[in-house]
Amino acid sequence: MIHLKKIRAAKPADLPQVIEIDALITGLRKPAYWAGILRRYGGRRPRHFFLVAETEEAVQGYIVGEVRDWEFGSPPCGWVFGIGVRPHARLGAVATRMLEEICERFRRAGVDKVRTLLARDNALVLAFFRSQGMMAAPFIALERDL
Ligand SMILES: CC(C)(COP(=O)(O)OP(=O)(O)OC[C@H]1O[C@@H](n2cnc3c(N)ncnc32)[C@H](O)[C@@H]1OP(=O)(O)O)[C@@H](O)C(=O)NCCC(=O)NCCS
Repeated sequence: MIHLKKIRAAKPADLPQVIEIDALITGLRKPAYWAGILRRYGGRRPRHFFLVAETEEAVQGYIVGEVRDWEFGSPPCGWVFGIGVRPHARLGAVATRMLEEICERFRRAGVDKVRTLLARDNALVLAFFRSQGMMAAPFIALERDL
């Protein structure tokens, strides 16, 4: 277990570390994307959450999500659409604690369900969400080339 100082709302000063963690995971640096996420999710909007987990030394992970109403015919629920933990901080329950924190904020926002989407071949993220009790949902994702 990693000793976290706090899980809290992200601030502008965290962005370089969030961008770095995301780039370590995906191989892409996306400063404009993360500046947009901070603008939309980093403020005090009651249903938008961009949280970071920090130790004394550094930001070790981030989670992003929001409560959305009635989309895809679904009653209001919380969506987690981004999660990442520094490679050297993994398997220390950082993601577990970030998910618990965002779920608590979803509950306080009045919903009783959390959902996410993940790539079929992302076995790591699937193992994580399954370990948190998340199950296949009664929805399917569709797409086509444009
Ligand atoms: C998935 C991820 C967020 C998990 O973070 P973490 O802090 O290491 O997760 P935790 O320590 O809270 O793990 C909780 C449980 O998840 C499962 N899990 C996590 N990592 C695992 C692994 N490498 N192999 C198998 N199961 C794993 C385990 O059941 C674990 O419980 P245990 O330690 O008791 O076995 C992290 O590995 C990560 O950032 N991966 C890349 C994310 C990514 O691809 N993001 C892009 C799409 S959103």
